[in-house]
Amino acid sequence: MFLRWLGDADMAGKRLYFFIILILSLALITAGCSKGNSNAITGNSVAADSVTILKDSSCGCCDVYVSYMVKKGFNADTKTTNMESVKEKYGIPYSMRSCHTTVIGDYFVEGHVPIEAVEKLMLEKPDIKGIALPGMPSGSPGMPGSKQGPFIVYAINKDGSTSEFMRI
Ligand code: CU
Ligand code: CU
Repeated sequence: MFLRWLGDADMAGKRLYFFIILILSLALITAGCSKGNSNAITGNSVAADSVTILKDSSCGCCDVYVSYMVKKGFNADTKTTNMESVKEKYGIPYSMRSCHTTVIGDYFVEGHVPIEAVEKLMLEKPDIKGIALPGMPSGSPGMPGSKQGPFIVYAINKDGSTSEFMRI
């Protein structure tokens, strides 16, 4: 059977051609899959972004938030610093302040902000100073307990005013 198959030069050529096409498509599919996979792990365009998480040396929930960001695909750099001066520097209103402050490009992300709001910020790039989830609500990323209600993430505008940015 095999010899007969080989004997037919024309047929063998066709089969070889088909085989090469098959290998090429498999290679393409595999490449597509691994790309899709890494996207799934890291989120979308935000993923490769580097963030700096500024925190107090004694803050435990801050460390949990750092792990959360790393798990979501961020390249998170942590700095222990005087948080009071950080809030002043970025102009974060008192009512919006939380424990740690994440710096992403020109934006600040204050507190235990879920990734959905960070992604919205990175995709839309609004003309604001940053976003905040005040009050370290239970069940938010890095905080223990269960979620008690929607997390209301605020936008801090350039003039210092605040408005609702996202409800999660
Ligand atoms: Cu906290
Ligand atoms: Cu914190």
